[in-house]
Amino acid sequence: MTPVHAIEITDAECTSRSCRKLGRATEYVHKIAFRVAINYIVGMLSIVTLISGRGSNFEAIVKTAQKERWPVKFAGVIANHSAAKGLEFARSQGIPVLVVEHKEYATRESFDEALIEKIDELGADLVILAGFMRILTPGFIRHFDGRLINIHPALLPAFPGLHTHERALEAGVQEHGATVHFVTEGVDEGPIICQASVPVREGDNADTLAARVLVAEHQIYPRAVKWFLDGRLRIEGNQVKLQPPEPQFFKL
Ligand code: GRF
Repeated sequence: MTPVHAIEITDAECTSRSCRKLGRATEYVHKIAFRVAINYIVGMLSIVTLISGRGSNFEAIVKTAQKERWPVKFAGVIANHSAAKGLEFARSQGIPVLVVEHKEYATRESFDEALIEKIDELGADLVILAGFMRILTPGFIRHFDGRLINIHPALLPAFPGLHTHERALEAGVQEHGATVHFVTEGVDEGPIICQASVPVREGDNADTLAARVLVAEHQIYPRAVKWFLDGRLRIEGNQVKLQPPEPQFFKL
């Protein structure tokens, strides 16, 4: 398997003498590059997941990976507060857990810088947002360009933002669903990897609809992650081409 995002370092940067000379910053890069190099050698990519709540999508991804024996390392789960329920599942699986309390940072930028540092230390080839309820800064998004993905509970570009199920019901749509996409600076605007639709039924409320959509989420998020790990995703403009092609839209 070819890793999609190895960091390139030159021989000069790689020697420990250079590291000493260039100080802590270079050592930091050295450490990250070392981790990425190890992943490259063993042909195993690393995933870091960010959560804020129950973490059911993360759980679906881990369980699918276990069932299908993906060659992947779940390098860590980071939550922005210690009460995030999904941390319990991560711990039960022996996956390293970190809490970076957003309230302890004065600005979004400083919080995101702390997150970047932690994620890089864990050595992420892919960063998964799974119900991470913080707006990310452009700097964070640029840092993980092409290796940051999210799931949104609606058929984008319909209903970006919050309260998607309520808004779908209000709009009277017949179909609703979920979208996995690369994250770009526009909110819920990045290239779409795959989508699944579910019917809106007579008598639905936001909870019944959310539950139906969640079942779809648990099916498509693991698929999208596997495609990424297999190096099958090509971003062309604002579209994602799957190589070799297969359906990227599922009607459930
Ligand atoms: C999901 O509905 C996801 O689409 C949205 O936040 C929710 C997270 O659920 N971004 P969970 O924490 O994965 O259970």
